[in-house]
Amino acid sequence: MPRALITGITGQDGQHLAEFLHTKGYEIYGLVKGQNNPKVAALLAEFPFIKVVHGDLTDFSSLVAALRQVEPDEVYNLGAISFVAMSFTQAELTSNVTGLGVLRMLEAIRLVGGEKKNPIRMYQASSSEMYGKVREIPQTEMTAFHPRSPYGVAKVFGHHMTVNYRESYGLFACSGILFNHEGPRRGYEFVTRKISSSVARIKLGLQDKLLLGNLAAKRDWGYAGDYVKAMWLMLQQPIADDFVIATGETHEITEFLELAFQCAGLGDWRNFVGQDAQYFRPAEVDLLVGDASKAERQLGWKREVDFPALVEMMVRHDLDVEAKRAK
Ligand code: NAP
Ligand code: GDD
Repeated sequence: MPRALITGITGQDGQHLAEFLHTKGYEIYGLVKGQNNPKVAALLAEFPFIKVVHGDLTDFSSLVAALRQVEPDEVYNLGAISFVAMSFTQAELTSNVTGLGVLRMLEAIRLVGGEKKNPIRMYQASSSEMYGKVREIPQTEMTAFHPRSPYGVAKVFGHHMTVNYRESYGLFACSGILFNHEGPRRGYEFVTRKISSSVARIKLGLQDKLLLGNLAAKRDWGYAGDYVKAMWLMLQQPIADDFVIATGETHEITEFLELAFQCAGLGDWRNFVGQDAQYFRPAEVDLLVGDASKAERQLGWKREVDFPALVEMMVRHDLDVEAKRAK
């Protein structure tokens, strides 16, 4: 039975990945941070097969202990401060967790991996946010980075460290440059979930307005359930490498609004949506669109859920969730 250690197990991708690896027969350990982390009970209720290990990406010795305890074949490093807006107000914390956390994990694997017969394979959750003020359209594995947030800068650091440890020490470490991926498990702080949950609440008469920031930004949005398969595929290859994972389409936030309000039968989104200065960022990533042809060619990966289906999935889910909460 292959064994996986997932950091960020309580997050959106951690849950999708655990669900997917379970279908592949993996024994799954999730690194959980904090004292009495409130997300853990819900996680274990939904996925009773997950085994919890305590640790934190800011604490090197806890990572070493987790690796020694679990003896994983594969490590998926998904843990991060992942909310770009928060990275502007807590830049040092973001750099420590999202950036230095990767280095700590690589070092821990180098140390503990040397004690194992079979080398540990590692997946690093890199991000399209690294492209920032994009240098070319679409973005590929070769496109230069120009991050626009402390989060983006931290991810560039983690990305280069992953490549460097692979080249310097022969670690089997892959970096997946994933474009935005969403779904019913998305955190409420991200724009897609903020929209789908607000649409549901407006439909049910629980809310009358939705306040957002910049509506002109464009994102390449895919479904998280499709993207975690690419993470796994990367670690099954004979040689470690880096891959862009994206849909190749870009949509403005207004298009997401249009489909979401239509899906709930609410008509024109302009009747409900306003803007508030607090949701604008000091620097913005205006446009992202990825070219995943390398992943399609070498991994055989392809997205299954398209943009309209993704929006509909999220709105329908939130209509159910909000209706249950309102009872
Ligand atoms: P998420 O829902 O925000 O989850 C982040 C996870 O990181 C949570 O489980 C959180 O644990 C954990 N974490 C935070 N600080 C930690 C620390 N100090 N030590 C250990 N774990 C810590 O993020 P996601 O959307 O699943 O994304 C997963 C990864 O992919 C992240 O690295 C993100 O930056 C990257 N990424 C995401 C996307 C996307 O569109 N979703 C795209 C590209 C890259 P608690 O909440 O329990 O504290
Ligand atoms: N969150 C949020 N809330 N974003 C808003 C709002 C709002 O009220 N109004 C407009 N936006 C705009 C943001 O300014 C940004 O341009 C866009 O919506 C998307 O914001 P998020 O959903 O917060 O995602 P992100 O693109 O900044 O970051 C996500 O994707 C990255 C991959 O490119 C996160 O998941 C990152 O962790 C991930 O790396």
